[in-house]
Amino acid sequence: MTKERLEKYGLNGYKIPSHVAVIMDGNGRWAKKRFWNRLKGHAEGEKRVDEIVRFSREIGVRYLTLYAFSSENWSRPRDEVDGLMSLLAQSVKKRRDLLLDNNIRLNFIGDLGNVPEKIREAALALSEETSSQSYEMTLTVALGYGSRDEILKAVKEIALQVKKGYLEVEDIDSQVMKKHLYTHDIPDPDLLLRTSGEIRISNYLLWQIAYSELYFTDVLWPDFKKENFVDAIKEYSNRERRFGKTTEQIRS
Ligand code: IPE
Ligand code: IPE
Ligand code: MG
Repeated sequence: MTKERLEKYGLNGYKIPSHVAVIMDGNGRWAKKRFWNRLKGHAEGEKRVDEIVRFSREIGVRYLTLYAFSSENWSRPRDEVDGLMSLLAQSVKKRRDLLLDNNIRLNFIGDLGNVPEKIREAALALSEETSSQSYEMTLTVALGYGSRDEILKAVKEIALQVKKGYLEVEDIDSQVMKKHLYTHDIPDPDLLLRTSGEIRISNYLLWQIAYSELYFTDVLWPDFKKENFVDAIKEYSNRERRFGKTTEQIRS
């Protein structure tokens, strides 16, 4: 079935990344171009999520991780933050069937402490509900997420374990670190994609993208379609991931 779908999108023979992380950027500029309020851009951007989730599931991506709201985004104007939170609430309600019908598990990473309580509870309840089904894909939403906060949290937890005598300093390695990250149960991204032409990471998954392929496109998030995603996957597939080794080693 997946093979037919890959053919349909011209992706037959291409490597499909197992984990794609996306920085969904450019909603504000999309709205500004039309002399609209930024929130209209966010609403339009929110609509694009559906197609990208369905498409990922269709072609066999196992993990899709979307940057929805960063720890730094809390410092945006109050009405924009409020608008984004209410969009999140609508999004959670609206996506329940999509997730359950397609065996997709919903997962959140980040500090949800500042998310309004009712919205947080609804989000976590859906996450719980989708996790109890057998799932084919994990959709992770980074919310109130900041990579430096995440790393600091991990370091503090590990330090406390050492202090209490549960862990030796010599035993601290990448695996121990991973256990303390929000992403402890998902593999590192194979492909990191950012829309809107900005060539930066903006505090996203710093530890996890050590060996990810990076892809930047000028397309603004509200304009991002599956055809654009296909382009990214084709480019990903043509790259040689060497993980520090030589081409000869990789190909032997
Ligand atoms: C991304 O779009 C969405 C969030 C950060 C919540 P932006 O709102 O950053 O859009 P631009 O970068 O201003 O165009
Ligand atoms: C990153 O975009 C966060 C999200 C897409 C949610 P920003 O628009 O906040 O990033 P900067 O400020 O341009 O680096
Ligand atoms: Mg932006």
